[in-house]
Amino acid sequence: AVTRTFSIIKPDATRRNLTGAVTKLLEEAGLRVVASKRIHMTRDQAGGFYAVHKERPFYNDLCTFMTSGPVVVQVLEGEDAVKRNRDVMGATNPADAAEGTIRKLYAESIEANSVHGSDSDENAAIEIAFFFQPNEIVG
Ligand code: CMP
Repeated sequence: AVTRTFSIIKPDATRRNLTGAVTKLLEEAGLRVVASKRIHMTRDQAGGFYAVHKERPFYNDLCTFMTSGPVVVQVLEGEDAVKRNRDVMGATNPADAAEGTIRKLYAESIEANSVHGSDSDENAAIEIAFFFQPNEIVG
């Protein structure tokens, strides 16, 4: 089925002017950008977005990193979008990411790993609603 997922192009990637390169890989993987905006997250936004990781040892550094520069938040649409996006992103840790994936090509570290993607349809809906109003998504 055609579904939607939520993506973030992270500060390490925007800093290196990789927004287009990352988006090209997403598009070539069969995903369509149906909403996109460049924002500088506040600490509250980062903390809220990653609240599920609140008890993890990397939480504070992650929030600092995600507010260290601009990000591009996107809604992606395509056949089985969550899985399609996770496949093209590659493993969280670039050391484990497969050849040709975004993280293998571009990620600097497990933290500065260039992209975020939702891990389930349920979380995709929550994450999309965190950053986008319905009328900002144009399918
Ligand atoms: P993301 O998919 O955005 O979800 C949580 C983020 O935490 C992850 O990508 C990484 O950027 C970051 N992170 C930092 N350290 C770790 C770790 N040890 N395990 C998982 N994620 C980590």
